[in-house]
Amino acid sequence: MLNPRELIYETTLKQFFFRLNPENAHELSKNLLQMANSLPFVFPILEKLTTYESPRLRVNVAGIDFKNPLGMAAGFDKTGELYPFLARLGFGHVEIGTITGEEQPGNPKPRIFRYEKDSALVNRMGFNNPGCDKAYEMIVKQEKKIPRGINAGKTKLVPVENTIDDYVRTFKKLSSLGDYGVINISSPNTPGLRNFQEKDAFVALINGIKKGLGGKFLIPTFIKLAPDLDDSVIEELLDITLDFGLAGVILTNTTIDKKKISHYTSVEDGGISGVPVRKRSTDVIRLAFKKLKGRVPIIGVGGIDSGEAALEKIQAGASLFQIYTGYIYKGPLLPFSILEYLDKFMKRQGVVHISELVGTEVK
Ligand SMILES: Cc1cc2nc3c(=O)[nH]c(=O)nc-3n(C[C@H](O)[C@H](O)[C@H](O)COP(=O)(O)O)c2cc1C
Repeated sequence: MLNPRELIYETTLKQFFFRLNPENAHELSKNLLQMANSLPFVFPILEKLTTYESPRLRVNVAGIDFKNPLGMAAGFDKTGELYPFLARLGFGHVEIGTITGEEQPGNPKPRIFRYEKDSALVNRMGFNNPGCDKAYEMIVKQEKKIPRGINAGKTKLVPVENTIDDYVRTFKKLSSLGDYGVINISSPNTPGLRNFQEKDAFVALINGIKKGLGGKFLIPTFIKLAPDLDDSVIEELLDITLDFGLAGVILTNTTIDKKKISHYTSVEDGGISGVPVRKRSTDVIRLAFKKLKGRVPIIGVGGIDSGEAALEKIQAGASLFQIYTGYIYKGPLLPFSILEYLDKFMKRQGVVHISELVGTEVK
């Protein structure tokens, strides 16, 4: 059942956007945001409609203050250009990128697909982005309103043996503009990238990046993992995460398990996001919380499209959470709905602060 806010989107903007192919819809929404920003009064109204504040929702994670635990996941703002708008639309943080050392066009279009009956997307964008130098020139002009995550990945054409330098280049260039960094080794759309989730390659990569940055990460740095790894591999990578002084983990990226799409027989190649990845992502968070025992925080992402789904991630062990596909399906009032739900839930339960809920369902 849709709540009234979702119904407004369902019967208006969504009708229009969902007639376009997903990438054109995304481009159009970018243009609309830019237009709205140039008109006086529009953004203050949007800001009021989408923002939900409560002291119960304020959190400090990895030494960073967030006005609420909800962020925009990587991939929505690949260039960093939407940050100023998203920062005024209810989000507590925005993770920009994935940004690579060099500019690249990504894969040929079409490269993003909707599977509406599963409330899912499949994408094989392939890190289309302006590269860290151009991104810097644009981002440096923006006012910083809320924490900004810098999600870094590998340039496709950079040979695999130069991967470390490519990450280091991006972090050196962009760390001064970010509050936290992300080493993304879990996108299915850059050939060979997920191989860095193999133990020895992972150690060499993390070690190499750290060395390249002068012996320590310049900002708290998270690692983002895929949901398709075996539990034992995830546990192994978490141990290494602790050993190398990473700030935490982001769980999870998209899945390549096509069986998770249930209403369609033929599914495009790429990463599946949205409702089909929700359960596995929550299971991975729970597994990680058990293993990490609160030593470093978890950012939970995967299939969150309601307050209930967000609460599930928090109770499984996530200190912060992010949305992407849910935002496409449920619309711009989703952050308000989720945060209001969490706040009211805490009020009913006599919970003073959201941090008290983290990991409460983990046995
Ligand atoms: C179109 C699209 C592009 C994405 N691009 C990136 C990316 O560049 N880097 C990244 O780390 N994750 C990327 N993601 C993954 C999301 O950040 C998130 O981990 C995943 O979609 C699960 O969350 P969701 O179900 O709320 O969408 C992308 C997801 C989508 C749908």
